[in-house]
Amino acid sequence: MGSRLIGYGSYLPEHIMTNQDFERVMDTSDEWITTRTGIKQRHFARDDETVADMATIAAQRALDNAGLTIQDIGLIMVATTTPELDFPSVAVQVAGRLGAKNNVPAFDLRGACTGYIYALHCARGFFTAGMHRRIMIIGAEKMTRFIDMSDRSTAVLFGDGAGALIFEHSSSSYSGIIDTVVMSDGGAFDCLHGTPDHKISMNGPETYRRAVQCMPAAARYIMQHAGITSENIDWIIPHQANLRIIHSCAAHLDFPMDKILITVDRHANTSGASGVLALAYAFDNGIIKAGQLVLYPAFGSGLTWGAALIRV
Ligand code: UT7
Repeated sequence: MGSRLIGYGSYLPEHIMTNQDFERVMDTSDEWITTRTGIKQRHFARDDETVADMATIAAQRALDNAGLTIQDIGLIMVATTTPELDFPSVAVQVAGRLGAKNNVPAFDLRGACTGYIYALHCARGFFTAGMHRRIMIIGAEKMTRFIDMSDRSTAVLFGDGAGALIFEHSSSSYSGIIDTVVMSDGGAFDCLHGTPDHKISMNGPETYRRAVQCMPAAARYIMQHAGITSENIDWIIPHQANLRIIHSCAAHLDFPMDKILITVDRHANTSGASGVLALAYAFDNGIIKAGQLVLYPAFGSGLTWGAALIRV
């Protein structure tokens, strides 16, 4: 019992905020941001644009890509940490806006930047149990809700956007979501968390230190569990937080940088949307081809971390 990927879609807000734009509003520089993070620009949602708005557009594009309607979907999961409303879930709002008449189950899950890996993990379990024929996974974030323009150490790091993937049940266990692992360490809460007044509290160096341990560890676990080596993998799509972290992970895994997908330069860190947006970008630009094996390691607030192995 497995799955296969049958559709994808993404949405990035129109407004692009460059490093030069930041230079005009705070004491920072393109040089600092580029050398410390690899980020050159990020997309910022309009004030009136919500996570549900972005998620709905990405979901509709994924349905169009798969040649389906919302009536064909058996479950919607949205990985988000930045919903405008505490209830109902973004997933239910997406289903409603797309006109679902099939009483589709829909819920959000919060795994911060690892959210899309947690969603893939759940989807794998549901497919293995034979519970759903088609599952839509959406990663959607409006990180600008948490950006504090008086804190230059975090403001420059994040961006907004949404991506959606549709998986269908398959009798092959070597396609779609092949394997997943997810973990957490609540003892590392202080590394990175949101505050009640919607700000980001982050110990940058400590988060960095943990990230370069967690992501390679999760990647190694998956390779060992799936009985493969780095030679079998066509692409690694790491969580797009920081280019230096990605370089360090590649070195830990002894994996060539030309097989590591980079979108942090153009999207910055979109948290739970990061990996889904990156895959959509790779498809749109013909970088990753159907049938290739992709390893997806991620980490984030919690701390949470994990990895997924997908044949796209
Ligand atoms: O999904 C998880 C999300 N979080 C992360 O991935 C964060 C992981 N950590 C990092 O990526 C890095 O720690 C940062 C990029 C956040 C910071 O890089 P760093 O090399 O660890 O810098 P630092 O925090 O040690 O700060 C170095 C200096 C400080 O100045 P002083 O005290 O040395 O004079 C900061 O005030 O850089 C200064 N600084 C800035 N300067 C210009 C901090 N932010 C900025 C800025 N522009 N935007």
